[in-house]
Amino acid sequence: MKKVQLTFLLLGICLFHSACQTNRDPRSEFVESLIAKMTLEEKVGQMNQYNGFWEVTGPVPQDGSALLKYEHLRKGWVGSMLNVTGVEEVRKVQEIAVNESRLGIPLLFGFDVIHGYKTGFPIPLGEAASWDLEAMELSAKISAIEASAAGIHWTFAPMLDVSRDARWGRVMEGGGEDPFLASKIGQARIKGFQGEDLSNPQTIAACAKHFAGYGFAEAGRDYHSVEIGRSTLYNIVFPPFRAAIEAKVSTFMNAFNTLDNIPSTANVFLQRDWLKGSWNFKGMVVSDWGSVKEIMVHGNAIDLKEAAEKAIIAGCDMDMESYAYVASLVQSVREGKVSERLIDDAVRRILGLKWDLGLFEDPYKYCNFEREEEVLKQNNYEKEALDIALKSIVLLKNEGNILPLNKTQKKIALIGSLAMDKDSPLGSWRAKVPDSTAVSVYEGLTALSDNITYAEGAKVNLGKTSFLFPVEINEDDTSGFEEALRAARSSEYVIMVLGENCFQSGEARSRADLGLPGVQQQLLEKVYQVNPNIILVLMNGRPLALPWAAEKIPAIVEAWHLGSQSGNAIAKVLFGEFNPSGKLPMSFPRSVGQVPIYYNALNTGRPAAENKTVFWSHYMDESNAALFPFGHGLSYSEFSYDNLQITNKGDFQFEVSFDLTNIGNRAGAEVAQLYIRAHSSKIVRPVKELKGFKKISLKENEKQRVTLLLTKEEWGYYDNEGQFFLDPSEFTLMLGSSSQDIRLIDTVSLY
Ligand code: NOJ
Repeated sequence: MKKVQLTFLLLGICLFHSACQTNRDPRSEFVESLIAKMTLEEKVGQMNQYNGFWEVTGPVPQDGSALLKYEHLRKGWVGSMLNVTGVEEVRKVQEIAVNESRLGIPLLFGFDVIHGYKTGFPIPLGEAASWDLEAMELSAKISAIEASAAGIHWTFAPMLDVSRDARWGRVMEGGGEDPFLASKIGQARIKGFQGEDLSNPQTIAACAKHFAGYGFAEAGRDYHSVEIGRSTLYNIVFPPFRAAIEAKVSTFMNAFNTLDNIPSTANVFLQRDWLKGSWNFKGMVVSDWGSVKEIMVHGNAIDLKEAAEKAIIAGCDMDMESYAYVASLVQSVREGKVSERLIDDAVRRILGLKWDLGLFEDPYKYCNFEREEEVLKQNNYEKEALDIALKSIVLLKNEGNILPLNKTQKKIALIGSLAMDKDSPLGSWRAKVPDSTAVSVYEGLTALSDNITYAEGAKVNLGKTSFLFPVEINEDDTSGFEEALRAARSSEYVIMVLGENCFQSGEARSRADLGLPGVQQQLLEKVYQVNPNIILVLMNGRPLALPWAAEKIPAIVEAWHLGSQSGNAIAKVLFGEFNPSGKLPMSFPRSVGQVPIYYNALNTGRPAAENKTVFWSHYMDESNAALFPFGHGLSYSEFSYDNLQITNKGDFQFEVSFDLTNIGNRAGAEVAQLYIRAHSSKIVRPVKELKGFKKISLKENEKQRVTLLLTKEEWGYYDNEGQFFLDPSEFTLMLGSSSQDIRLIDTVSLY
């Protein structure tokens, strides 16, 4: 070990011991003493994050040569790297920083661990459909165990962008349209990634992203401007981020979009005033990929130097791949354009995180070859992947109880290229889950039944998929139709697996049409003509608009991109080995014209008219209702809700209890949902707001008394100044099986 490095470590250890003895804060003493030793160049260097040398997750800047990166690593001008993975590679790069830079400050290694690292879990929107917080926490925990074994310290997850627009491809990465559900999910994921103690080498730092408003991209076009009213900002967009701070998230990422015509990365209101001011967030804020540079492209800075100045002044601590901070911040400080206090504040946050991760104690803490071998080659988390995949499936329709199928059913035709696809179920943002390793639907079904005949029917661009290159959406090849029709004709039932391939949703995968890509709809209609006993299995990363299917097809199963165990999970649901229990975290529209569509809308002054006269808020050519609403999801059982009782416990706390009974003939789970509506408040509140839910498993005929608690936090909201407010008003309280299937209603007065 280099001499300077050794001195530096000894200093840390001494400070730690003396601070412990005198009750001082060793973390801040260590960080301050280190900052005092750093040159301005080294401080700015800590604020610089480069992409690695082999993998990219964004547009590569022209000046990003490996040589330059190595040179900067040696000079101590790099604080973090992203997309460097695996103990060998991480160690190699860490050694340069630790052994060859003057102060030997260890690097932070970040990666997009979004829904699994080596084990493929369902895409986040799919997991959100489980409404099972423990399961989501576990999937994040396993992802952290695997990623940390490969040298990773920090994931750029969870994405907390609430979105009401299925055209936006990144809805696959989030928790859906509801701020309450998304907040709980975000907290569960953060807990899963970070655990109780970040210095435990099996945990990784999480990142609440993208702050803020990114999910409101106009017309669903990724990176587009957003228009968000104040009430929506404070009550819909902000809550999951605030909840993330409560869950002690270590870092935030800002966003590509503008808010009020100011790029998020340069937005003082968002970062400096709100996040670091009102919310007192003490962690670190990283830019999104190239978003410092993009301040210039937005037209908010004349050059890269001004962009960097705006970003740091606004509160962006680390520059991901813009090469902006490293290029000019030193000069900006010397010219008096940026205060060195801001630089110190950013560096303090970055070094603080490195301390929390235990990197000053041991820069190679996450670089253990044996552990990597054991966790990534020997351990197996497929059981957990299967469990959450099962829980994420949503039964959208089941007319005449066509499902579950009987394994000995005479003949079942399986149609659609997605049924054979071992890659698409892994979804976008699959980290290091090896390509084409998911259990396909074909494999899952044939493991349980001998009666399956496969026909491709229509392709969904297999073999042309990639995260980095544009994906064709309109395959027009109908040559497989005849074979599919033959198989359908000679079978009792037809399972059609249709939808999107893995890269038809995700970042930069916006769609103007929400139907089935290519010729799949045509195929579906043709097959229906020869055999209407169709079970439609949807594999997709976003809500789709399928009004024809919803009307004609007897059974529809939403199976998202479910990860490694996809085919097994789908087969178990179709054959009744698992009773589906998922509920939609996002409304499915009837047509793109309804988008944005969401359940927690305002009533308007002219809501649905009883006698359907002209002047009310509606479309002439479409219903107002969602095709499948938020919270919807069927079971092979049925559940009854009875005996609602509301007990005032004082201080605005109300206990809501009711009997939930499984009145079906098999065990199952129900997600009971509690909604409220305020009737006269300072600002108008939505017609329904989710304020509580519980997932309860019940055997057949089993009854359970369920209790949910409403507190000040649930009754209140944020006014247009962003201040929490509680109206002493009348409320309707609704309990149900979905946002539109309300079973019990009562009123509560807070006067
Ligand atoms: C851009 C994406 O918007 C962000 O979510 C991701 O973490 C970075 N690229 C890094 O890959």
